[in-house]
Amino acid sequence: MNNSFNHIISIAPMVDRTDRHFRYFARLLTKNTLLYTEMITAQAIINGDRKKLLDFSPIENPIALQIAGSNPEELYKAVKIAEEWNYDEINLNAGCPSDRVSGNMMGASLMAYPELIAEMISSMKSATKKPVTVKHRIGISSSKVTSSFMPYGSFHDFEHLSDFMSIINKAAPDRNIIHARIAILEGLSPKENRDIPPLNYDMVYAIKKEFTNSIIEINGGIKTLDDIHEHLTHVDSVMIGREAYSNPAFMARFDSLYNCQTLTSLTRRDVIEGFLPYIENLENKGENAHLALSHTIGLFQNQPGSSLWKRLISTPSKGTKSTILRDALDSLPHDVLDKKI
Ligand SMILES: Cc1cc2nc3c(=O)[nH]c(=O)nc-3n(C[C@H](O)[C@H](O)[C@H](O)COP(=O)(O)O)c2cc1C
Repeated sequence: MNNSFNHIISIAPMVDRTDRHFRYFARLLTKNTLLYTEMITAQAIINGDRKKLLDFSPIENPIALQIAGSNPEELYKAVKIAEEWNYDEINLNAGCPSDRVSGNMMGASLMAYPELIAEMISSMKSATKKPVTVKHRIGISSSKVTSSFMPYGSFHDFEHLSDFMSIINKAAPDRNIIHARIAILEGLSPKENRDIPPLNYDMVYAIKKEFTNSIIEINGGIKTLDDIHEHLTHVDSVMIGREAYSNPAFMARFDSLYNCQTLTSLTRRDVIEGFLPYIENLENKGENAHLALSHTIGLFQNQPGSSLWKRLISTPSKGTKSTILRDALDSLPHDVLDKKI
């Protein structure tokens, strides 16, 4: 089993969120957590601006590239191309319910075709020695997609999920990341489908019990250290999405879960001062510093100064973003800035 960096927590792939700016910022808060890129389609990697899509800073390691696709040959090509960038892991998206993705037979709609998923994983594995993982759901429901594996347009019971796992595991993915919620392909927006229907963690725990040799990572609704501890008694690792983005200080607690490391003495001032050279560098290159700074919006969540921080980083101003950051270090409450996160 290839899980060489032995992570127990990852930050989920999130389009328009987990770009390289956010990942750099996240690294100021946690060193050990595995970071995912946004989903990138295989076709974009083959035909698009590869440098723009795939470049990342070495500080972001360990980092996993998430690819969406449905054609094994295209996935092979995309993974071969990505080899040059030396990602720590390549992940196949088989869990995204977005029309843009599932309508093109990518993401969650692939779950109706587990043999094809297995073929894609095998194809990706033959293109790299790096771990190849897959992210999927506990089931799907669709009024349009049917297949011999899913003749009635849905599967949501444990037996069906177990059959699904047996088929895709023939390709030996290095980890299954399971979002503990059924993907609903029509009738709900992807945003709604991240909260509806309810999570079913027990189903994921039961999968780990049945597939003891598989590395199982659980995803969906994880918000506290206690949640993480509880999940880790059942499965191998956890993936966290929205809570890490909306409350980045949460990430500062993750490294304490590795090898009994003590809690970091990091403060929000350290994080802002750490991000400052990055923002200055973007400005010097004429790049979009506003976008990078927008990812820090939740840094003061639930703290005095939160509204001021949001206002400072989002209000257009004549000064540069790095000046705004320096000013923020003066104007935000110092006790909050200097308190351990
Ligand atoms: C804005 C946004 C974009 C997302 N984009 C992706 C994506 O590109 N690929 C993917 O597999 N999942 C994507 N997801 C789903 C997350 O990876 C994750 O599975 C989901 O948010 C549930 O985890 P959470 O409850 O910890 O947020 C996205 C979620 C959000 C909120």
